[in-house]
Amino acid sequence: MGKDVIVACDFPSAAETFDFLDKFTDEKPFVKIGMELFYAEGPSIVREIKKRGHKIFLDLKLHDIPNTVKKSMAVLSKLDVDMTNLHAAGTVEMMKYALEGLPRPDGTRPILIAVTQLTSTSEERMQNELLINASINDTIVKYAQNAKTVGLDGVVCSPLEAGMVKENCGADFITVTPGVRFADGDIGDQVRVTTPAKAKEIGSDYIVVGRPITALDDPVGAYRRCVEEFVG
Ligand code: C5P
Repeated sequence: MGKDVIVACDFPSAAETFDFLDKFTDEKPFVKIGMELFYAEGPSIVREIKKRGHKIFLDLKLHDIPNTVKKSMAVLSKLDVDMTNLHAAGTVEMMKYALEGLPRPDGTRPILIAVTQLTSTSEERMQNELLINASINDTIVKYAQNAKTVGLDGVVCSPLEAGMVKENCGADFITVTPGVRFADGDIGDQVRVTTPAKAKEIGSDYIVVGRPITALDDPVGAYRRCVEEFVG
């Protein structure tokens, strides 16, 4: 599995997304479509970006009763996305059903990964507001182990946690890591962050980068800087 930079296209419309993607003339970045863009434009945005030749991570973070998640996964899988996800907090049963819904008629399926703890969640909030009486690292490892037991391909976590996940779930268990910032950039609302170079060192397989690329005047330059630091 090759390391790659996934660009979070968190835009409110197709027009803004295509303005952004049109700037990339020499490369076809792996694109993440999240809730904002998907809810604004619907499934057609996935088909259009796919038609342009990009790989797609559809980041809708499903979390519902098992049967609903299974049926929804079947629909999303048919959009021919390369990767999709759910919340590990939905329980082992929910993840099992999700996996069952995923295979396409030709036998292929997207990579399925589980969100452990959002990279915007601090240990303090997790303990005080969600009443989870464990360390954030222990919950991340436990959620990753649950996902692995069921047969999911990997997890979403902070790059700071990628090494720990690999130690507990094996080197082949994929880590997809948002919460990436350049050493000289703003962290915004993220909490558990690090740089692309450090993410590489710790062992992330994919970094997900949004605003450090999309909010810049030269997004192509920022994307290249990310690739250079992370893939080498
Ligand atoms: O702009 P920024 O680089 O913070 O974007 C990170 C992206 O990764 C956002 O689209 C966010 O929804 C997503 N994400 C995250 N933390 C997770 C899972 C997904 O930040 N645990």
